[in-house]
Formats: sequence, C-alpha cells, structure tokens
Amino acid sequence: MEEFKALWAENIDAKVETTVRTFNEEDLPDGEVLIEVHYSSVNYKDGLAGTNPKSGVIRNYPMILGIDLSGVVVESLDPTFQAGDKVIVTGYGLGVSHFGGFSQYARVPAAWVVPLPEGLSLREAMIFGTAGYTAAESVDALEKQGIQPRMGNVLVTGASGGVGGMAIAMLKRLGYTVEAVSRKKADCTDYLKKGLGAEAVLHPDEVALEKKRPLAQQRWAAIVDPVGGPMLPDLLAQLHYGGCMALSGNAGGIAFEATVLPFILRGVKLVGIDSVSHPYAERIKLWGRMASDLKPENLDLLVEQEITLEDLPVAFEKIMEGKMHGRTLVKVKQGI
Ligand SMILES: NC(=O)c1ccc[n+]([C@@H]2O[C@H](COP(=O)([O-])OP(=O)(O)OC[C@H]3O[C@@H](n4cnc5c(N)ncnc54)[C@H](OP(=O)(O)O)[C@@H]3O)[C@@H](O)[C@H]2O)c1
Repeated sequence: MEEFKALWAENIDAKVETTVRTFNEEDLPDGEVLIEVHYSSVNYKDGLAGTNPKSGVIRNYPMILGIDLSGVVVESLDPTFQAGDKVIVTGYGLGVSHFGGFSQYARVPAAWVVPLPEGLSLREAMIFGTAGYTAAESVDALEKQGIQPRMGNVLVTGASGGVGGMAIAMLKRLGYTVEAVSRKKADCTDYLKKGLGAEAVLHPDEVALEKKRPLAQQRWAAIVDPVGGPMLPDLLAQLHYGGCMALSGNAGGIAFEATVLPFILRGVKLVGIDSVSHPYAERIKLWGRMASDLKPENLDLLVEQEITLEDLPVAFEKIMEGKMHGRTLVKVKQGI
C-alpha cells in the first residue's frame, strides 16, 4: 500500500489541533480487516473529539478521528470477509480508542465489521452513518415497546440535526405522524415539513410547560430525544398513558431532573439508546432495515454538505455551534 492521508488530532496545551497527515500501513492499529475507506460522516461526537479535549470522548490523544466509515475490504485475516467486500463500521472504539474513519485506510477487528446490505450504496451508508443508525435504533426501540402509528403523534427533538432528521424521515416512511422540535424553527420549517415529512414544527418553547409539573396534558404517544437536558422532564410529563421515549443524546446537557410520576402513574417507558456497543446480531438486522423499510424516500435530502478530510476542522466547529442542518458526508477516497 502506498502512503495515505488521515486526520490526526493532538491535544496541545489543552486544545485539540487537527491536521491532515500522511501515514503508512504499519501505523495502523491491530485488527483482522484492512479497509479502503470510501466515506465517513461528521457526528456530534466527532465534533466533541475534534474541538474539546476535556469532553471525555477521547481518553488518549493523539488519535485518527472518525466514528464511522464505509469502504471496501483490502485484505482480511478472518474468513468472514474477503478482499472486495463492501462493509460498514460504526461505534465500538472507532475514532475514539482505535484509529477511525477519517482516514483513507483503516484496520479494525473483524467483530466490528458489518457487510453492506443489499439496497444500500457505500455513500448512502454514510449519509446514515452513526446518526442514522442511532435513529434506526430509536425507532426500533419504540416498536419493541409496542408503539404503532395509530396510537398518536410522535415527537422528535433536535430535528435539524443528524439523529433527529433521520428519525423524522424513518418514522414518516413507517406511517407515523411526526412533530419536530427545533430551535431553528424559523429557518428549518420547509426542510422539516416538505423535505422530511414532519406534520408540524415546534420551537422548544412550545413543548416546554409554562408551569412546571410532573404530569400534564397527554400530547404524544412516543418521543425520540437526541437532546436531553432541561426539556426532558417536560417531555416525559406530556407522554400518553403507556407512552415511550427513546433517549439517545446529550446535546442539551447531561443533567436529568424529573420525578417518578410519569412512570408510576402513566406507565411511561424510558428506553436508553446506545449505538456504540449495540449487539452485533442487532446491527445486522438494523442495517438491513435501513436498506429497506427504514430507508427514507429521498435520503439525499438529508445531506447538507459533502466535504473532504481537509474541511473537517470547520465542520467540527459548525456541528458544535448547533448550526448543522442534516448530515455532513465525508468523501474520504479521492475521485469518488
Ligand atoms: N446514544 C448514542 O449511541 C448516540 C449516537 C449518536 C448520537 N448521539 C447523541 O445524539 C445527539 C445528536 O447527535 P447528532 O450527531 O445528530 O448531532 P447534531 O447533528 O449536531 O444534532 C443535534 C441537534 O440537537 C439540537 N441541539 C444542539 N445543541 C443543543 C442545545 N444546547 N440545546 C438544545 N438542542 C440542541 C440541535 O437541533 P435544533 O437546533 O434543531 O434544535 C442540533 O441540530 C448528540 O447528543 C449525540 O451525542 C448518541
């Protein structure tokens, strides 16, 4: 293999410095599967890792960032994979404790590698990326708790972001009526309604309770929440009897100050979503669904921008400032 390029992140004087550098195959960590990376994507976690050394995402800098990738197997010491196989990797230690996807080549354990399902291209796999996978996991979790479209509207927070937008489009595809919450209501209403299929777009002020109380008017059958933070107790208070929230995020903060009343008086369920260590068998199933019944009709509409490795530092700043609008796809292989 010739030299290749990757985004190197270092912690210098308590600041993350990122540069595109040249590496050799010997620089890659151990693993059974060597992959030529075609695409990656920018997720909130990449933004944290690329801008804030104290975020806790990365314990030991330096690191090649990038928590997801799609590409083609170059060689494999594990018989499950052959040269030429198209594959996806998300989560585990990728881009966190093990060199990641913002790299023209990656070497990873075979146990992390998911075959690209039929019905998805490598590009589409990273339009979804970790955000899409997390949205799919959230929708799947609601279904496993018995939520169905006829039960009422579903609320999705952080709607202009990756997880939120994907969840809206997937729920719409399954026949749900979706209400979207966005701080950028004024700018994003067309995108969320005409593009993704939300029925209504609400500002966070419109879902917050005027007078704080543990139980309020029952507004939604289910909620997909990638934001968390101060909105959380008010959302739980407005779930239907037997309703369910799939909680995946902390963009709004990590504090959780609620009461037990929605749980013990309305049988409300709160399901935690973790995409990093989600069991392998479930991954295979979910990626299969993302290639079929969960695949939004116009997946491309969720792409805000397509960038290269050199553009990543600016994209990290943008996602941390909450200025994203859908997904940032990273074209890692040259000339695709
Ligand atoms: N559990 C898991 O395995 C998992 C996997 C992937 C992502 N996540 C988490 O899910 C969240 C979303 O990830 P993402 O990649 O979709 O990020 P993203 O594209 O940046 O979307 C996050 C959205 O949340 C809203 N937001 C951001 N900062 C906020 C704040 N301070 N207060 C309220 N709302 C805020 C914004 O939407 P509006 O401006 O439209 O309101 C923003 O677009 C992150 O917290 C991430 O860590 C978790």
